[in-house]
This record gives sequence, structure tokens and C-alpha cells, in this order.
Amino acid sequence: MPKLIVTTREGAVRELDGEAGLSVMEVIRDGGIDELLALCGGCLSCATCHVQVDPAFMDRLPAMDRDEDDLLESADGRDATSRLSCQIPFGPALDGLRVTIAAEE
Ligand code: FES
Repeated sequence: MPKLIVTTREGAVRELDGEAGLSVMEVIRDGGIDELLALCGGCLSCATCHVQVDPAFMDRLPAMDRDEDDLLESADGRDATSRLSCQIPFGPALDGLRVTIAAEE
């Protein structure tokens, strides 16, 4: 199963198995990391699934659409590597993807 490497806010690194067909947010949530609130459940209306993506992987992600961009604009701590994890479909093509959970709002 493809692996997702997650760094928590406290700096702990967790390696999760990612089921194909889930979003990165769902892999993190199903992996038991509850500090990623993902309050809207992936409906693109909360920005509490904000992560920073390892720059080495940025060009392997689907392009950010305008709605994600607008919502991220309202998130604290946005930078060039910011994405909403519910908008990233996980699968074998992203095996080894590294993300860091963004600081709390
Ligand atoms: S879970 Fe709400 S925008 Fe991603």
C-alpha cells in the first residue's frame, strides 16, 4: 500500500498506509491523527485540513483550483507549499508523499 509520511504539529513523524481512493485528509484521519480537524469532512468549506507539502512533491499534485485557493487565502500561515489535504487524492502515484500539518489557526 502506498505510504503517506505525516509530521504532526509537535514534530512527530508518522508513516501511514494510504488506501487508494481516499484523500490525503482521509488517510491522515483514518491513521488516527486527530489534530487535523477537517471539520467540513472534505466539502471545501473549512480550511481546517491545511497541510504543508514537501516541495519535492508539489509538482506531482493535482493543480489547485480556484475554490481551494480562495479558501486557503483565509487560512493563517499559508505559504507556497500549502494545500488543503481533502483536495489531494491519494494513491500509488504519491507513494512516499510527505506533508506537515499546518499550525493551528
Ligand atoms: S476538510 Fe474542510 S476544506 Fe478540507
